Amino acid sequence: MTTTSTSPTTPGLAPMQAPERLSHLAYVTHDTEATVDFFTRIMQMPLIEAVMHERVPSTGDPYPYVHFFFRLQDGSTIAFFEAIGLPERSAPSHPAYLTFDHLALEVGTVAEVDAWKEWLVACGVEVLGPVDHSIIYSIYFHDPNGIRLEITTPLVADWNDRPAEAARIVGSFLGAKSDAREAGRPVQQVLREVIAANDRHDGSA
Ligand SMILES: [Fe+2]
Repeated sequence: MTTTSTSPTTPGLAPMQAPERLSHLAYVTHDTEATVDFFTRIMQMPLIEAVMHERVPSTGDPYPYVHFFFRLQDGSTIAFFEAIGLPERSAPSHPAYLTFDHLALEVGTVAEVDAWKEWLVACGVEVLGPVDHSIIYSIYFHDPNGIRLEITTPLVADWNDRPAEAARIVGSFLGAKSDAREAGRPVQQVLREVIAANDRHDGSA
């Protein structure tokens, strides 16, 4: 994999390398029992670490809590906290947050994604997809906490190694935002024009 960096370096310091891999991604739960059942029984991810403290070590906040971890095959983990008495999380300001915020887990093949759909449905989990994104193939569902999960597999080997294309698209997006501001035009409209031009250029739909 190429490791081309477009980030500025700090004068006088050798640049750091990117972190090696995911250690844990942590969420709040209000139902440890349902969360343990879902991740161990349905996701087949073993519960492999847990701690319980009277206060939060990093901040000293006095919330007694349990913190527990489920492991993926590569050793990375998904973790949860349950702190008794914590009020429910506020609803997001727009439903798009419920779609865009998600956690994607990779499997080896399209057949495995399809097998996961069959398994999840048999376990009583509502599943959206499969969706062919041309670079990855995915299904979507939710854990008992409402966290949107994705099981996905790459359809092209270099899907996560296209730095030039990524820089071009992000630059195009940022350009559309600044062009719209300068022209006093609605950003969504300018962005739609840029996306349509891109689609004509690369032939995708
Ligand atoms: Fe995703």
